[in-house]
Amino acid sequence: MQERFESIRQSLDAVGQSHVLRHWGSLQAKQRAALLAQLQELDLALLVRLTSETDEAAPVDFAMTEPALFRAIGDPSLPSFRAAGEEMLRAGRVAAFTVAGGQGTRLGWRGPKGSYPATVVTGKPLFRVFAEQIAAAEKRYGRVVPWYIMTSPINDEETRAFFQDNNWFGRSPRDTLLFPQGTMPSITLDGKLILESPCSLALNPDGHGGSLRALAASGAVEDMKARGIEQISYFQVDNPLVKVIDPAFLGLHATAPDSSGEMSSKMVRKRNAAEKVGVFCHHAGKTIVVEYSDLPRALAEATDPDGMLRFAAGSVAIHAISVAFVDRLTQGDFALPFHRAKKKVPYYCERTAATIEPSEPNAIKFETFIFDALVLTKQSLLLETSRVEEFAPIKNSSGEDSPSSSHQTQSNRNGAWLERFGTQVPRRANGDVDARIEISAATALYEDDLMPLAAAEQLPKRIVSDSDAVL
Ligand code: UTP
Repeated sequence: MQERFESIRQSLDAVGQSHVLRHWGSLQAKQRAALLAQLQELDLALLVRLTSETDEAAPVDFAMTEPALFRAIGDPSLPSFRAAGEEMLRAGRVAAFTVAGGQGTRLGWRGPKGSYPATVVTGKPLFRVFAEQIAAAEKRYGRVVPWYIMTSPINDEETRAFFQDNNWFGRSPRDTLLFPQGTMPSITLDGKLILESPCSLALNPDGHGGSLRALAASGAVEDMKARGIEQISYFQVDNPLVKVIDPAFLGLHATAPDSSGEMSSKMVRKRNAAEKVGVFCHHAGKTIVVEYSDLPRALAEATDPDGMLRFAAGSVAIHAISVAFVDRLTQGDFALPFHRAKKKVPYYCERTAATIEPSEPNAIKFETFIFDALVLTKQSLLLETSRVEEFAPIKNSSGEDSPSSSHQTQSNRNGAWLERFGTQVPRRANGDVDARIEISAATALYEDDLMPLAAAEQLPKRIVSDSDAVL
């Protein structure tokens, strides 16, 4: 161990980071081993590069930036692409993939975010919502849809325990594969590694972009290839309305003549110029996502002659990605650019011998973003969807994108589905449904699945204001 220590100390010294060894003398053997293991994992050359640069992502030339083109809701070609997607599902070529490695600090839930009780009446956890959708798709198409879930070293154990405690939601654990993503060290605002305890560095998951490398490194890509999986339905853990399996989107992505079949995305129209979502743009022949903080105000506010926002294609982090694309990208020393974010990172304080939770951002975290892979495709497609149908994220504990806004959107979607089949649904003056309505994927995976229930008169005729309804 002494030899390893010496060699790491010298490497750290050379890059001005050996302060992380300052408690070495007082550490127990086990603690020393743990710290050395963390330090050995560090890519010091990368760290030096990241601490000396402002941002790795190439700057966007906004003079050459146009709004991205997209297939709008109701595009007449969608039914034929739906048939193609259903064919892929019947042939067992599709996997579901949830990225669930984030820290979920804004929501402040004590467990992994996927364990958060998300549905509006029965409070089903997010992972159960997705599991039920996958089960319904498996039943419909007669094939297993393997489910891959990316965790992070911070929540992997807890996430596995949650699946175990819930009997894997009735799924075979062989078809439900969890794997952790990589981490990056957080640094102080002046570029120094941070200790969260005397024997451990402050590490953060390396962003949802880390999923590409993690899919390859964990063996998930090989597993997919062995199963004959060709396309991955990618979604985030925080959106209970996501269509985990969307045949029309998958078919469009995999078979449209203007798609390379490598990576496609869904979008919603921005509510207004100031909305804080990334925007799909067309830049140098490629589709890119520009973060809201980077989009110049003049472009964010630019309108067409009909008064519609020009840069309106908001990102909802739903993608279809081919296994071949992940495989191609992750050969060799592939890396997406790291983005820097100022965050609050707990640190060890020698004076009090305790870990301190800072009240202000004190550190920089490095993360990669999945949408930065879009420029690496030959061609990439965008499909519009409506918020009420598919986007009710739970990110904050209150206000926008919170459990309560998500509940309202869930009821709005379910209410609209029922109205289409003749149920009277109470609505408030602002159009919101005035009741809590939950529809399980076992009852209706898609809206049309309510049709036979309506024909058999099994749908409620009327929902009472401020009541709960579960179908
Ligand atoms: P967010 O950007 O909402 O981040 O992640 P977060 O870490 O979950 O939450 P905050 O910012 O700390 O409040 C969007 C999606 O990407 C996943 C998250 O789990 C979520 O599904 N993600 C994010 C990862 O899988 N890994 C990461 O390193 C970051």
